[in-house]
Amino acid sequence: MNARILHKMKKLFILTILTLLGIIYLKTLAQNLPTGLPSDISGYKKWTRLNKKVIGPRDADPHFGFKREYVNRLKSEIADLNMNLIFPFPEGTIIVKEVRKTIKPKSKITLISIMRKQAGNETTGSWDFIEYTRSSSDNSFIPINFPKESCYSCHMGAADSDSVWTTFDNF
Ligand code: HEC
Repeated sequence: MNARILHKMKKLFILTILTLLGIIYLKTLAQNLPTGLPSDISGYKKWTRLNKKVIGPRDADPHFGFKREYVNRLKSEIADLNMNLIFPFPEGTIIVKEVRKTIKPKSKITLISIMRKQAGNETTGSWDFIEYTRSSSDNSFIPINFPKESCYSCHMGAADSDSVWTTFDNF
């Protein structure tokens, strides 16, 4: 093989490797959780979407803003063939709700609400409830001082769907 072609191939090879590394780097950046959020929700944007359409703000809206909800289960684990959710949700289920002030998916997240199905929460429908907020996108998220019992006092209104308001048929 002639030396010039060999040289060109080498260059192409290095360029390909650099491009691949760049893509991997950008992907990890995109998956990085904002600081202050718990690591067990890392990668939640790849989880199953509970609502397909963004839920907009309403009057008397407890989680004011534009909401997207994710669950750490495959559809086949939590729904029947007609896409009706099966209740109760299995132990270990985590639901994350991200809230923004605008509908744009790239605008800053102002609130993260989390429900975790875990033992020790028998008085709150077997769910642990916690919410995080931040004052600006440069700041860390911090937990809101709102007892899980108060979250549940409203969520218990969705008793027929295991205290979860949003079901697949909200699509
Ligand atoms: C006054 C009623 C009310 C209170 C209080 C409330 N929620 Fe909600 N929550 C809702 C409603 C209604 C939805 C459905 C989404 C929507 O329409 O905003 C929801 C949705 C959610 C979801 C997505 C799963 C679902 O049920 O649809 C999570 C997670 C959540 N809330 C967590 C919390 C946490 C954590 C707290 C307490 C810090 C809390 N909620 C307090 C009414 C409430």
